[in-house]
Amino acid sequence: MRLKDKVAIITGAGSGQGKEAAKLFAAQGARVIIAEWKEEHGKNVEQEIGEEGNNATFIQTDISNEENVKKLVEQVVHEEQRIDILFNNAGVGFSSRSKYQMASVLETPLEDWNQILSINLNGTYLMCKHILPIMIEQQSGSIVNNSSLNGILGVTGADAYTASKGGVVALSRVMAVDYGKHNIRVNCICPGAIDTPMIREVLDDPKIAKNYEAGPLGRVGKPEEVAQAALFLVSEEASYITGLVMPVDGGWSAV
Ligand SMILES: NC(=O)c1ccc[n+]([C@@H]2O[C@H](COP(=O)([O-])OP(=O)(O)OC[C@H]3O[C@@H](n4cnc5c(N)ncnc54)[C@H](O)[C@@H]3O)[C@@H](O)[C@H]2O)c1
Repeated sequence: MRLKDKVAIITGAGSGQGKEAAKLFAAQGARVIIAEWKEEHGKNVEQEIGEEGNNATFIQTDISNEENVKKLVEQVVHEEQRIDILFNNAGVGFSSRSKYQMASVLETPLEDWNQILSINLNGTYLMCKHILPIMIEQQSGSIVNNSSLNGILGVTGADAYTASKGGVVALSRVMAVDYGKHNIRVNCICPGAIDTPMIREVLDDPKIAKNYEAGPLGRVGKPEEVAQAALFLVSEEASYITGLVMPVDGGWSAV
């Protein structure tokens, strides 16, 4: 029960890493808020966690929409009176079903560039903008942002995504510096290839999958493994850790 009675908001918790984090945080005693824009996915995770005997509430939210974010925060504060943990996990990425062009600069239309940044980077900013005042009032809080290896390495072929995730790394560091005096910790995770719906179709291509499996551990990661890293960072076990940019990548970035 490492998160007993903590109120934890997890964005994008309807799928993949966010869903596993929601299940894990709830199993550790947190009251989890699933902030997800896809209603069916959010409701399913809420139900699954409830059936496990744990506590989760789905609140439909588009993190790139400030009014949505404001409403989410107002509702959580009204119902729970506090917010202890924020896992900024929602994002759009490489999925072949993605409506956005994941390409290099020359092939990226401005509209797609703006959309990707408005979710991955602006969404993280908006969540922090509206939750930091609550944490400052409490004089406590823990934020973990989900970036990507793309945020720290020159992985080619998805430049808007890469720029958005680099922005998340920089934002995490500067917020750690700005808000440490209020006993608020801000850390950042940089996952390598993780087997979630985001990249599953890419992984189904044996040629591409072979590249992803070429890191030191010789396999792609599981969403549960990212959830465990997030749990450590938001928990009291990490009470002296802030401003950390932590790869969760099976050693990819060490090569
Ligand atoms: N899967 C990977 O290989 C990988 C690697 C590095 C980083 N990441 C990052 O990890 C995070 C989680 O991705 P995942 O792999 O679990 O993918 P996923 O597609 O399974 O989950 C992402 C979730 O975010 C939600 N979402 C997207 N935009 C949203 C918005 N505007 N408002 C609310 N919810 C929104 C989606 O509906 C989905 O439920 C993302 O930020 C992604 O960029 C993924």
